[in-house]
Amino acid sequence: MKEKLQKIADEAIEYLKSVTDTQKLNDLKVKYLGKKSELSNVLKDMANLTKEERPVIGALANKVRKEIEEKINEKEKELAEKELAEKLEKEKIDITLPSTKIKTGSKHPVNRVIEEIEDLFVSMGYTVETGPELETDRFCFELLNLPQGHPARDMQDSFYITDEYLLRTQTSAVQARTMLANEEKSPIRMICPGKTYRREDDATHSHQFTQAEGLVIDKNISLADLKGTLEIFAKKIIGENSKLRFRPSYFPFTEPSYEVDVSCFKCGGKGCNICKQTGWIEVLGSGMVHPNVLKMCGYDPEKYSGFAFGLGLERIAMFKYGIPDMRYLYQNDVRFLSQFDR
Ligand code: DAH
Repeated sequence: MKEKLQKIADEAIEYLKSVTDTQKLNDLKVKYLGKKSELSNVLKDMANLTKEERPVIGALANKVRKEIEEKINEKEKELAEKELAEKLEKEKIDITLPSTKIKTGSKHPVNRVIEEIEDLFVSMGYTVETGPELETDRFCFELLNLPQGHPARDMQDSFYITDEYLLRTQTSAVQARTMLANEEKSPIRMICPGKTYRREDDATHSHQFTQAEGLVIDKNISLADLKGTLEIFAKKIIGENSKLRFRPSYFPFTEPSYEVDVSCFKCGGKGCNICKQTGWIEVLGSGMVHPNVLKMCGYDPEKYSGFAFGLGLERIAMFKYGIPDMRYLYQNDVRFLSQFDR
């Protein structure tokens, strides 16, 4: 019986070596440890043994069972590891493969221009100011030296909401707001991009558009400061080779006033269809802050002087990106907008 048991153990262990998958291992478990296994049969035969033999064979049978069980457990672990490794190998993902592109929105060309302008002026020590789009007559006109009935109000057809409130026609309204809010009457360097509204609608004008206002107030500010600042603006925002031309003009809130042209971004000044053969394109209005404006906003014109400028950002975006019709900027056509991805 001892030999029989030993034989069972040897056979099971030998057979185990050839097992290569869990299915076979389970078969083997049934064959050697199951109820109908040889081992079970041997144990059943124990009834025929003598009293002395029984514990000896019993102990041996247990040892054999334990040994087989241990080997099976070892094999089980080994197979599980092997199968996991195979699975991992099969399901391996190549993380260097390009993924499907996720569609994200793109930055609107006008917002790009706003960000560039803000970055440039902040780098020169300016603050970025804001004001309400629903503005009062006082800030939009009165404090800018445009009293009721002033003929220059005709230059800007306005959307009045009430007698007092209107949609602001110019970011210049924020000039007065910034000066009045500055209680210490300390120097000001500010830029203000924002939406503006006028009653017009054709190929080159929209009822809603975007301006950026600049205002500098300090002691001894001169026209040379305005010119230098605008030259930096033109070079950094419009193009390294741009030249500026100052044409005398009229704005009620500046004296003297200038309209500023930039050399045509397309032909560089030779003359083409974009600049109507003149070589120049008008981009902004500017001038030295009118003493009346300084006075109304609490700054002593004897001590302080300043310059201001205002520009239309749609035009700048059109130059920069070669956009032929301003209306593209407002139609929200993704085929147009997605060209400005990143
Ligand atoms: N606000 C003017 C407009 O909308 C532009 C302008 C002209 C702004 C001269 C200024 C300035 O600050 O000094 O047409």
